[in-house]
Amino acid sequence: MNSAGKPISGETYFFRDHGQFDLLFLRLLPELIKRRRDTKILRLWSAGCASGEEAYSLAMLVDSLLPERNDWNILIVGSDIDPTALAKARRGCYGRWSFRMVPPALQQRYFRLQGGEWALDERIRRMVGFRRLDLVAEPFPDAELRDMDLILCRNVFIYFDADTVATVANKLARALCEGGYLMTAHAELTGLHPKDMQSRLFSESVVYQRVAHMAAGAALPDVRPPPSPVALQRAPDQAPLLAASADALLATAREFADRGDYGLAEQTCQRALSIAPLAAAPYFLLAQLAQLGGDFERAGKLLDRTLYLDPGCVAATLELAALCERAANLPRAQTLRRAALDIIRSLPGDAAIAPYDITAAEMAQWLAQ
Ligand SMILES: C[S@@+](CC[C@H](N)C(=O)[O-])C[C@H]1O[C@@H](n2cnc3c(N)ncnc32)[C@H](O)[C@@H]1O
Repeated sequence: MNSAGKPISGETYFFRDHGQFDLLFLRLLPELIKRRRDTKILRLWSAGCASGEEAYSLAMLVDSLLPERNDWNILIVGSDIDPTALAKARRGCYGRWSFRMVPPALQQRYFRLQGGEWALDERIRRMVGFRRLDLVAEPFPDAELRDMDLILCRNVFIYFDADTVATVANKLARALCEGGYLMTAHAELTGLHPKDMQSRLFSESVVYQRVAHMAAGAALPDVRPPPSPVALQRAPDQAPLLAASADALLATAREFADRGDYGLAEQTCQRALSIAPLAAAPYFLLAQLAQLGGDFERAGKLLDRTLYLDPGCVAATLELAALCERAANLPRAQTLRRAALDIIRSLPGDAAIAPYDITAAEMAQWLAQ
């Protein structure tokens, strides 16, 4: 039970939420590794890690992305309030249930069967350190939990009341370095704007990025792409009609979404659709917005519509797979991931796969795992 008397579950498994792990593997971790190429210091934290599967999943991704890392200083910390869960995490031995979302090839690569349990490869186990921490009652940042490049705090906020969610989100924000990312489970921080954080919308998930500390009244630093042709200052229905092509409106809608103005993003998308009703991309953005609002059923319908209009859209296929997985519709999730793989394999190996910063060959390798 937590302090509010809600029962706490340590439910977790490896690579929980493939969509978010795709995002980590394909975009966020490569970006962080690139950013840290000079210092070769990388700091990752799984906050509320339960029995460690999330922290070790991160370690496996780092191992895949940085196989030669002797000259790197990589910190991966898992923390939890529950000492029993942490003891299990430190052992690094798991039953079959922890692998319900792990492709057999990955399981074989990193685990070996030992006395009825799957024991994690010692190299990966040693990459992660665990410690007990009450995210609510204990102070942080501290000597270790500071300047993080990435914090995963997923399926933990559900145990807190609204005030506590805000307090913990702000503490986590302070434990990030500038430019560092906080990833929560879907919709856990909807409607909340942690201090000095900017939400960034990716097709798989929204994540929060720490921006430079702002003095009260200071202007928001502009970390966004250059403005699109439709002036952002105007409400969408005031944008000059003649200048408003569907593409320009969609670009504007994305910028609204990037800076957290989801209502304006939705309206602008609808305007784009009124000009180009058969365009797939506005439906895809609407699906992402629906997910942000926690309306997964509507998101699923919008993704179906996206794929009806653009059957070759890899991002929508993967996003729908993640939604099916979330709804425990595993057969459809697998069918969709296979479909994404088929689309990618039909492309030249060096083709860039939008919106990911990755080639078709690299993505095929990841999906095949
Ligand atoms: C459902 S598990 C989430 C595990 C993992 N993050 C995931 O998404 O699979 C929730 C974890 O949050 C931990 N937790 C709950 N309240 C906490 C607190 N105040 N401080 C630290 N951990 C807490 C619980 O002990 C539990 O292990």
